[in-house]
Amino acid sequence: MTDLEKMEQRLSESYDELKWLYCELYHNDLAAFDYFVSMLRRNFTERKASLRALDEQRLHDPDWYYSNSLLGMMLYVDCFAGTLKGVQNKLPYLQECGVNYLHLMPLLKTVKERSDGGYAVADFRTVQPELGTMEDLEELSDVCHEKGISLCLDFVMNHTSEDHPWAKAARAGDPLARSRYFFFDNWDLPNRYEQTVPQVFPTTAPGNFTYLDDCGKIVMTFFYPYQWDLNYANPMVFNDMTDNLLYLANRGMDVIRLDAIPYIWKQLGTDCRNLPQVHTLARMMNLACYIVCPGVLLLGEVVMEPQKVAPYFGTPDKPECQMLYNVTTMCTTWHTLATRDVRLLRRQLEQVFSLPGHHLFQNYLRCHDDIGWGLDYPWLLQFGNHEVPHKKYLNDWFTGAWPGSPSRGELYNDDPRLGDARLCGTTASLCGLETAESPEEITQALQCDEMLHAMMLSLSGLPVLYSGDEIAQLNDYSYRNDAEKCSDSRYVHRGRFRWDLAENRVDPQSVQGRLFSALRRLETIRASHLAFRADAAAEVFDTGRDQVLGIRRCFGHELFTGFFNFSEFPKDVYNPANGAYDLLTGEPVQGESVSLPGYGFLWMISNNLKGTGESNAQ
Ligand code: GLC
Repeated sequence: MTDLEKMEQRLSESYDELKWLYCELYHNDLAAFDYFVSMLRRNFTERKASLRALDEQRLHDPDWYYSNSLLGMMLYVDCFAGTLKGVQNKLPYLQECGVNYLHLMPLLKTVKERSDGGYAVADFRTVQPELGTMEDLEELSDVCHEKGISLCLDFVMNHTSEDHPWAKAARAGDPLARSRYFFFDNWDLPNRYEQTVPQVFPTTAPGNFTYLDDCGKIVMTFFYPYQWDLNYANPMVFNDMTDNLLYLANRGMDVIRLDAIPYIWKQLGTDCRNLPQVHTLARMMNLACYIVCPGVLLLGEVVMEPQKVAPYFGTPDKPECQMLYNVTTMCTTWHTLATRDVRLLRRQLEQVFSLPGHHLFQNYLRCHDDIGWGLDYPWLLQFGNHEVPHKKYLNDWFTGAWPGSPSRGELYNDDPRLGDARLCGTTASLCGLETAESPEEITQALQCDEMLHAMMLSLSGLPVLYSGDEIAQLNDYSYRNDAEKCSDSRYVHRGRFRWDLAENRVDPQSVQGRLFSALRRLETIRASHLAFRADAAAEVFDTGRDQVLGIRRCFGHELFTGFFNFSEFPKDVYNPANGAYDLLTGEPVQGESVSLPGYGFLWMISNNLKGTGESNAQ
């Protein structure tokens, strides 16, 4: 069968479902549907041979992204290496970090003064000129593929920048262009929306609508005023945006991050988040990729409460996103550090670990965004933790306002009315490295940082490091002097990569060298044990201490047991894996009790006599 015949086969296999979903959402608009299908075919013919070959390879190994040897990193091209060519030159460094999955932060054309870090796209087919060209991006992808590195790129789909040609035409009065957005003549409807729609950026961008002086209209802007929400009830928007998505996939992207996907369908009288139509759209985008570029995965950015997240996986026979951010585990981890109480994390992980194996999470400690305290407050209430004072405690702890806290972070979108501030900062600064002065304090901060990474690397899914964390980079306060950035504290953890400090990574005495080598050791161990595969059976267990988390993972005959002490004080815990090997020292751990230093952890492996049926290919 030729590539084309194979694509036609995938299309006919998916055709009925696609047509059904499309026609239901778009009121039997068959002309729009036919255009959609021809657009898919066109994108396939434009897909180059090497990418089609990769698709085939992945179709034969559909579980490739469950591998325990995958390690991700996310970075800003400009902060890390100036340009795309610069990133290409720095690939040896990324390989030294063990990275084989690289998430490039938004790099498409944007207007600097109103860019939201690249999340306000003015052209989905042009790279921001300072960073390079589309050819540079394709070349980077080719070189990455040769080296076994996959690339992920953001697809900012909820809105365009007001500088996008559609927005410019809409502003100038073109009715077709206006129908791509939400335009209003007066405040009646916007005011009604405001009654039920919460705010994303209550302080930095209050309100969900923006008045356009020059044309006397009001436009929907859930994020910043210059980010105009697209109207996906218009099939033209869906067709053209899917075309843009496939265009980026055809430039050699392996994973497409669907930015702010829960927001893409609006309906008066609702909170305009996670509406059922969003799932229809996600499913159709999944089918579009399956038909055109079946090796490409969708990563959903669903920063929502836990019960809203998992539905974005879809079902095994009707998948939506193959990968989602493990946002609840991320923020619960930081809660655990501030409270030294693992009970909520244990409960949360129990829920995550019991999800079906095809649910792949991206695990992370920090990313380019703030930490929002989306915790299970009803459950925390039994310990007397009320939402507003608890958030205040967490923010006080991590900004160093709490007496004795070594942490240094900054508040984000503090909304005094709701007591709902979020938090920014790098892992190292949040772990206390910024304030550490004595050798003991430095050791404690590094130990804490390493323990958190060890825990993150023990979760099920794809671990993604935030660039700079591997060398314990601290907060960068220079954004305060930059007029375009000073109101957005997320820039405190979006500083320039410190190549000067990165050089110390080979010096075992330096802070950078200590953390870098510690993380490399963990990542290398992880890559060589199948118990760390994303689809291994995993569970949490009660260690008998509220400060210590216990995780067990099992694949084939390999049984992993991990302990993570979230307290700064040493703890003894019951060891159910008596005689297992310490993965770091290679020595057996004897005895029914083990001692963990403050912020200590233990990774052990033993033979699972029961087995799970899979062969252990070690
Ligand atoms: C996503 C991004 C965030 C951005 C927002 C608006 O949430 O992660 O950085 O501000 O979308 O596009």
